Amino acid sequence: MKADSNFVRLNSQPHEASSEVQFYWEERPVTARQGDTIAAALLASGIIHTRDTAVSASSRGPFCMMGSCFECRVEVNGELNVQACMRVIEPGISVKRQRS
Ligand code: FES
Repeated sequence: MKADSNFVRLNSQPHEASSEVQFYWEERPVTARQGDTIAAALLASGIIHTRDTAVSASSRGPFCMMGSCFECRVEVNGELNVQACMRVIEPGISVKRQRS
């Protein structure tokens, strides 16, 4: 799996507010845009490895970004199997790589 993300944000439109929200990835602070999904925020920050498969521990990350593939599952505030592409960032949440 590549170490960097091909995810590129489109330029903001002048009418769009660009409030920032801070959350934690693996205990490290990460800044996102308000309204980002967890997956979008992680990819925009260059974080593409969000879980390991249960059987072979292969690296996985967000793929479809629409709730179909389940490759983006992460742990959010201790809750397992959260689809990162379907959950909007909230300030201060703790997001961790899922290892099961
Ligand atoms: S990226 Fe496919 S379900 Fe989230």
